[in-house]
Amino acid sequence: MGGLCLSRLVIVSNRVADLEKQAQSGGLAVALGDALRSIGGVWFGWDGNIVEEDGLPLVKTETVQNNVTIATISMTERDYQEYYLGFANKVLWPVFHYRLDLSQFEPAYFEGYKRVNRTFATALAPLLRPDDVVWAHDYHLTSFAYELRALGAKQRLGFFLHIPFPPPELFQAIPSHDWLIKALFQFDVVGFQTSNDVNNFRRFVTELAQGRVHGDGRVEAFGRTIVAATFPIGIDVEEFAATAQTSAAASQIERLNRRTVVRSHIIGVDRLDYTKGLPERFKAYRKLLETHPEHWKAVTFMQIAPPTRIEVEAYANIRVELEGLSGAINGEFGDFDWTPLRYIHRSVPRNTLAALFRGCEVGLVTPLRDGMNLVAKEYIAAQDEKGPGVLVLSKFAGAAEELEEALIVNPYDLDEMATAMQTALQMPLGERQERHSALLKRIKRHDVRYWRESFLDVLAARTPGPAE
Ligand code: ADP
Ligand code: F6P
Repeated sequence: MGGLCLSRLVIVSNRVADLEKQAQSGGLAVALGDALRSIGGVWFGWDGNIVEEDGLPLVKTETVQNNVTIATISMTERDYQEYYLGFANKVLWPVFHYRLDLSQFEPAYFEGYKRVNRTFATALAPLLRPDDVVWAHDYHLTSFAYELRALGAKQRLGFFLHIPFPPPELFQAIPSHDWLIKALFQFDVVGFQTSNDVNNFRRFVTELAQGRVHGDGRVEAFGRTIVAATFPIGIDVEEFAATAQTSAAASQIERLNRRTVVRSHIIGVDRLDYTKGLPERFKAYRKLLETHPEHWKAVTFMQIAPPTRIEVEAYANIRVELEGLSGAINGEFGDFDWTPLRYIHRSVPRNTLAALFRGCEVGLVTPLRDGMNLVAKEYIAAQDEKGPGVLVLSKFAGAAEELEEALIVNPYDLDEMATAMQTALQMPLGERQERHSALLKRIKRHDVRYWRESFLDVLAARTPGPAE
């Protein structure tokens, strides 16, 4: 990050991580927190509160660890409904995950989205210094640079999309899609998770925005040339592996195996989101039990799926569907001494998760569509290299582009998934070790530090300012 030595880093995201509680935060918060501490800077976003009054929100600032400022604003109920629940989570989230059927387009949502991006920009602008480097994150903030530029910002502005970017055929279903893409071009660097995502973006630009793609990956349209490239996100492998190997983790693994007839554990850990393919996963597990009665009382599947975005109807529906499926599977196969499927609808501390990953012989990560999926990488990092478990991974998770040695499945094909579970449960030690060591090498090579530094290096190399 040589070019950034003299600049502050300003991270902008919808939610701001609690840098004082690192142990409970995800790898992303830790990685960005590390970068902020070493470079110095600001993390700006929503404080999670909803307030009554309208008008320009009050910016609260707090200095942590000497050189990092946390700056937050609250949101009004209208902003929350229209920007967060509305445009972000009823339009962009479903469409970007290829679920046009679940999207709900309302003009007020788009107006609310633009308004909150403008509010964010207006609140942050006075805190910015001329040589700051600004890095905005995720689908909530696609028009943030447009609003900041409108206020005269000339700094380098980067954006990273944590979720997939859909093919143009789907993207153009969003009524305001052309405005959104034009606004996105006010960033200097736009990062995507996979080559599939960046190709979808380039296709849109060339086929529908009269733009062109240069040989070196730069993309030109709307009178601007930006870098649009892949930066697959990783995790802090050492940190997660260490969390899985403490004595507390060992006693949690021991508790998992105590007083049970079960010999093998399968685990899934996902927010309860319709993109995660949970009903399909439950049905595939039922198929495994139907076709392989030798697993009765020998295998258990634990699905941890905490609630998320519960005010959006599609999320309420998926919860009802899963509760029905888990009840049916346990009712059909369970016995007084065996629960085939344990469904836990809560968040779990990070260290417990790491221990559970290490204690389970099979990890199921089978989303119908996912930007990257960090759980896949965490499962690999947590394994005991002497007797590692097997990762079953959807080909529609961004992680599948890198993690070739996992058992790659089509999450819509229940038979294929049941067969993969069976293969994983029976895989000989030698093959498990071979696959795991290749996967571990990959996640170490492209860890979260690599992700952060490669993005910031590209951003630092751009000429600052709006005009090219
Ligand atoms: P997404 O960003 O869509 O939620 P990812 O798999 O990329 O999916 O990231 C999820 C993160 O949240 C991971 O770091 C994972 O460990 C964490 N997580 C998921 N489920 C839980 C849970 N039940 N309790 C605690 N952390 C969880
Ligand atoms: O990429 C999905 C994501 O935005 C994560 O970054 C985040 O941890 C998660 O969804 C939580 O979503 P929300 O902020 O809507 O609760």
